[in-house]
Amino acid sequence: MDQAALRKILGDIPLGSIRFFDSVGSTNDLAANWARKGAPNLSLVVSDEQTAGRGRKKRRWYTPPGTALAFSLIMQDSPLGDLTPNSQLSRLTALGTLAVCGALGHTYPEKLEPQIKWPNDVLVAGKKLAGVLCEAFWQGEQLDTVILGIGINITSESMPAPELLDFPATCLEAEVHMQVDRWDLLHTLLTKLLYWMNLLPSPAFIQAWSDNLAYRGTWVQVIFDDGSSLEGQVSGLRSDGSLILMAHSGEVVDVQSGAIRIRPLEGSS
Ligand code: BTN
Repeated sequence: MDQAALRKILGDIPLGSIRFFDSVGSTNDLAANWARKGAPNLSLVVSDEQTAGRGRKKRRWYTPPGTALAFSLIMQDSPLGDLTPNSQLSRLTALGTLAVCGALGHTYPEKLEPQIKWPNDVLVAGKKLAGVLCEAFWQGEQLDTVILGIGINITSESMPAPELLDFPATCLEAEVHMQVDRWDLLHTLLTKLLYWMNLLPSPAFIQAWSDNLAYRGTWVQVIFDDGSSLEGQVSGLRSDGSLILMAHSGEVVDVQSGAIRIRPLEGSS
């Protein structure tokens, strides 16, 4: 792939501008630099390889050459001005996960049932296939530019060694049992992303987010950054993006997306 060819493949999608690289540290960093220098809204950075890809909570994200989709979209002019910055970020993260679910469901309707592992992962068959990292520039208390970074494991070489994982991972080719054209998938994904972007403030967006939520009705353990944890049954989402859990006591608890990990409890349904 090269920049001219990618621009042609994505030519019918109303993006700002497109940059393609064979190898970068992190596409989110390149996108952030480009945004600072005046990139137009909806500009896209794609790289075949990332040598310093990042996940949430400063985890590493592996992107060896030729194995994955890794890209970052620069988003300005958020239509979510009425929401708090944290709710906006959580909805924009959901936008990424929903677009991945939509693209996978559209491309492999018989084969995959992708789900959103709140707040930022996409699972297939209970394993992590993709992750979203939404990073923001602030103007005082307000969000200015948001960088929406998405990584999808395509071939088995995209996955780190099992001992480096804190949650089981998978890759698209293992799930669909066929070769995947990364650039076709990117085209479908960006189409879904722009579709849901137009609906961001609407109840339809929250409904779709909620419909795609993994672990609904399942008992999960939520682990906070300070090491404390909470068990509860997933019952849905609030419109501000928090996850609604029903604790053993029957108490309803809203969990904010900031500093948590979530995992299903063994044998629960
Ligand atoms: C996570 O699962 O914690 C989020 C992973 C996000 C990875 C993508 S790959 C493209 C973009 N560039 C990065 O450095 N990270 C995101």
